[in-house]
Amino acid sequence: MTTDPLVVFTPSGKRGHFPVGTPVLTAARQLGVDLDSVCGGRGICSKCQITPSYGEFPKHGVTASENALSEWNAVEQRYDDKRGLKSGRRLGCQATVQGDIVIDVPPESQVHRQVVRKAATARAITMDPATRLYFVVVEEPDMHSPTGDLERLERALREQWNIDAITADLSLMSKLQPVLRKGKWEVTVALHKGHKDEAARVVEIWPGLHEHGLYGLAIDLGSTTIAAHLTDMETGEVKASSGLMNPQIRFGEDLMSRVSYSMMNPGGDQEMTKAVREAINDLTTSISEEAGISSELIVETVFVCNPVMHHLLLGLDPVELGQAPFALATSESMSLPAREMDLTNMNPRAQVYILPCIAGHVGADCAAVALSEEPGKSEDLVLIVDVGTNAEILLGNTSRVLACSSPTGPAFEGAQISSGQRAAPGAIERIEIDPVTKEPRFRVIGSEKWSDQEGFDQEIATSGITGICGSGIIEAVAEMRVAGLLDESGLIGSADQTGTPRCVPEGRTHAYLIHDASAEGGPRITVTQGDIRAIQLAKSALYAGARLLMDEMNVDTVDRVVLAGAFGAHISTKHAMVLGMIPDAPLNKVSSAGNAAGTGARIALCNIGARSEIERVVREITKVETAIEPKFQDHFVAANAIPHKTDPFPELSQVVTLPSPSFNAGGGEEGSGRRRRRRS
Ligand code: FES
Repeated sequence: MTTDPLVVFTPSGKRGHFPVGTPVLTAARQLGVDLDSVCGGRGICSKCQITPSYGEFPKHGVTASENALSEWNAVEQRYDDKRGLKSGRRLGCQATVQGDIVIDVPPESQVHRQVVRKAATARAITMDPATRLYFVVVEEPDMHSPTGDLERLERALREQWNIDAITADLSLMSKLQPVLRKGKWEVTVALHKGHKDEAARVVEIWPGLHEHGLYGLAIDLGSTTIAAHLTDMETGEVKASSGLMNPQIRFGEDLMSRVSYSMMNPGGDQEMTKAVREAINDLTTSISEEAGISSELIVETVFVCNPVMHHLLLGLDPVELGQAPFALATSESMSLPAREMDLTNMNPRAQVYILPCIAGHVGADCAAVALSEEPGKSEDLVLIVDVGTNAEILLGNTSRVLACSSPTGPAFEGAQISSGQRAAPGAIERIEIDPVTKEPRFRVIGSEKWSDQEGFDQEIATSGITGICGSGIIEAVAEMRVAGLLDESGLIGSADQTGTPRCVPEGRTHAYLIHDASAEGGPRITVTQGDIRAIQLAKSALYAGARLLMDEMNVDTVDRVVLAGAFGAHISTKHAMVLGMIPDAPLNKVSSAGNAAGTGARIALCNIGARSEIERVVREITKVETAIEPKFQDHFVAANAIPHKTDPFPELSQVVTLPSPSFNAGGGEEGSGRRRRRRS
């Protein structure tokens, strides 16, 4: 029977006996405990911090005396003096086992730490990135046994980190020799090993210990907006989130007009490719500045996007996506060097991963939603709607998952709306209209105060009130309906019909005035009849897409609904119900998941296993094509009324009383609003 001391690690519960004098890091490695180290136990990276516990631990059958670990040593003292170690912490590579002991590995010392996401229902992300840092001591060259510097670096990585094979491209080779000498043969390398790669590739090399971290970008490339999350590749923490409008809008608002632009203009696809790549370069620079890091430290980028954006990003002509059978150049995931895509404002050897597409109209963004929300693991039937310029819709449970993309247009993102703007400081994001006085009150992004509260003007002094964002316009339309300013068909009444001078004539129709700063040279913010129509088209397309999946699944109801998308978190259930955006579901079963596509991109960035997983999952998803399905049109027309005429939420009447005005007489409205929106 061994008399060696017993070491118990928490939270893993792994335990084993080790000879006196074994470093804690060595014990952890032998037991497979998740304890980080970049310097390989040399006492310089501080990644191996542990917290020993002393005393009685009946649960573990351990009594740990005060001298169960070796004494605090000079290396720990030096680190503590320079950087400071939290009280009670030791360096796992310095402290050695002297007696029975319980050792806690704090989350920040775990390689595969979990990143806690905000939404309670959301899955955690386990850190397991494709690119990692390794500190190595490389043998110096010897004239009598000549070998190249790269070969000695490879040998060092094999001996010190069990890494078998590495590759390095020419641009790295040109740095290798000066960096090795500058670091006096001690260097840190960033190695990238993709989930399908045989060998690791040296992405970057620094003299000595590199202490400035590694970063990655998770980018949700939408038709209207590009959103990026700059993520710390060691901790998973999002350091900065930023976005900009997709500059391809100038070639066409929706996807099909961009495909047409490409068809009509030779070289048009290349123009659009250039525009989006330049925008991503600009975004990379600005987000790095915002986070205060060098953009050279960005070593990986993950993209999620719809199929047309996917092709234009990669420099592939999207013309085949404009006509049946909507053939993609490839639906597989893509792994390639960033510089092949002219993404020049990040590390020159950074790597790009693009999630797989599901089908011709159902893209990598939908795959990202599936990765984030995991409908295939749901016991009950869940409908997931990710609202953007296209709505990505998934319906499924453990037995089967269906997906489609529905052309909602950019109205939900504040585009093609007369006073619309993207979600940025100054944009109206919440609005309430008093049903009696018909007066509005609102909140703008950047302030918690309502416009009729004291101190509002001071709080918005810098941003001003600039327009309405996507969630603001949805609330505005729903509130107008509840306040009797809008009839069931979506017509805005006149001042006489509604009893408020805020309903002002605009051409042959009317508009509702929310805010007027024109006297001071500011904006005049209204909701026009055209805006209402754009929202009606968008919500009808959304509803019709969802309904089509339900037909395919042979169900009339779903167990729960998850609203995702950049503003999914901001749409109140009440407003979604009034608009009739989504099929009937129990009110308490409608939840928000925030930006699910962006989260899917972050998961794929932080966890290499998630890449294999989503590549498998997309092969099992059945896609439904809305563009050629005649029933889509029927559902679309039926969904036009506000709220939905034949499928209103049963609970709606308990939540709100809807007036039933009709403004047809003399209303002179333009168009029926029942035209079929082009796929966008
Ligand atoms: S492993 Fe680097 S300081 Fe301990």
